[in-house]
Amino acid sequence: MKKIGVLTSGGDAPGMNAAIRAVVRKGIYHGMEVYGIYNGYQGLMEGKIEKMELGSVGGIIQRGGTTLFSARSEAFKTEEGQARAIEQLNKFGIEGLIVIGGDGSFQGAAKLTAKGFPCIGVPGTIDNDIPGTDFTIGFDTALNTIIEAVDKIRDTATSHERTYVIEVMGRDAGDLALWAGLANGAESVIIPEKDEQFEDVLERLKRGSARGKKHSIIILAEGVGSAIDYGKRIEESTDFETRVTVLGHIQRGGRPTGFDRVLASRLAGKAVDLLREGEAGKMVGIQNNQLVHHDIIDVLKKPHKLDMSLYQLMSELSI
Ligand code: F6P
Repeated sequence: MKKIGVLTSGGDAPGMNAAIRAVVRKGIYHGMEVYGIYNGYQGLMEGKIEKMELGSVGGIIQRGGTTLFSARSEAFKTEEGQARAIEQLNKFGIEGLIVIGGDGSFQGAAKLTAKGFPCIGVPGTIDNDIPGTDFTIGFDTALNTIIEAVDKIRDTATSHERTYVIEVMGRDAGDLALWAGLANGAESVIIPEKDEQFEDVLERLKRGSARGKKHSIIILAEGVGSAIDYGKRIEESTDFETRVTVLGHIQRGGRPTGFDRVLASRLAGKAVDLLREGEAGKMVGIQNNQLVHHDIIDVLKKPHKLDMSLYQLMSELSI
């Protein structure tokens, strides 16, 4: 394989630039031409494609976001959209494509592979919700952004003796909330994977207060519902003064951590190797610190599993 393409798709994630850099540099190292495709599948259909050189990816490893831009394309989901995409790839002589993104992006990669165009997926999303990999690119950075924010909220929560409900991202997954709950020493974590009773959360708050605790931090995953509603319920049911913070898109930006930069470089490097070996329709991942790959189709069929031993530990530590 002599010409490969790379695109980023779906929600951006810190570390995507490190992955783009690794695809371009490793591809060129092995004598390939590498093409950057802008604005995800939408840009692919529109032919927004440019040959990348070593310098094209200079100075981006430390930057958040994606220098190739990203998009969620409805048009690409149609047969016609996919045919247009393949037409553009053929026009540039591109023989294989690396897709950096989440499960929506992998659906697209699976479709193109089924139509005979080899694609390899690299998991990039802050949600950490892709089966077949212990970590996705961007999760660690987003987690650290949350940790820093919650540390700051804790200061003012203590000063004013308040209860805080903090809503974090993760779409349908509770990974960010649970890991942040552990790392921030939260009193409660509300995640979609666990049916936590409201009464139990109140009970914990009351127990803490009876012990003389000055404040409480509750981290709520967006997949469960609105922190604003949850905060209202607490105020209506108790006399705890409650405030709500929705962290929002701040969680998606910022300089990638060292962990994310290394993870992104390793996963993207492996993706290039798979294309060189003639593989297609695979997703790269990391499990027990070893690089692995799986059929994208299998990954898409599996449900995401959260390590519930962390939930148990969190509960034991927040008594
Ligand atoms: O998938 C990443 C993510 O940030 C989710 O955590 C969140 O639910 C969603 O994207 C937000 O999407 P958008 O940026 O389109 O509002």
